[in-house]
Amino acid sequence: MGNDALQILVLHGPNLNLLGVREPDVYGARSLAQIDDGLSVLGQTLKANVRCLQSNHEGVLVDSIQAAMGHVDGILINPAALTHTSVALRDSLLASQIPFVEVHLSNIYGREEFRRMSLLADVAIGTVSGFGHLSYELGLRALVDHVQGDDH
Ligand code: DQA
Repeated sequence: MGNDALQILVLHGPNLNLLGVREPDVYGARSLAQIDDGLSVLGQTLKANVRCLQSNHEGVLVDSIQAAMGHVDGILINPAALTHTSVALRDSLLASQIPFVEVHLSNIYGREEFRRMSLLADVAIGTVSGFGHLSYELGLRALVDHVQGDDH
């Protein structure tokens, strides 16, 4: 916040700690650490300080969103399965008033019916879905652009 580097919080939901091992045909071969490293490097280019957190627990993610209030300029979130179920995550993001971008590695609209519904999408700045690890990078670029107000 303020005039310094933007503060960006990257949140990964349940089972994303298993990236690289988990259904690589759907989610790709990169590990979560590799994705986080790539986002940190991109963050430097974009003059954004990127902090990443993964949790399998909805409450930990809610706590981290609440703790980000007043400290974080934007949130990049892959809510994973919580996308389709979590009113608590939606409510905490709304309460925080922190702008956020929703990302998915897979194309959630081309899979099972239950994955097509997101409880976050209508209150996100936007959603990037289906580009593997690039979804995160595209999402980070769009989030930083939005927060900087370049296009608005
Ligand atoms: C996911 C899609 C979700 O439906 C799924 O539950 C995940 C990962 C994705 O990145 O494609 O865990 O968010």
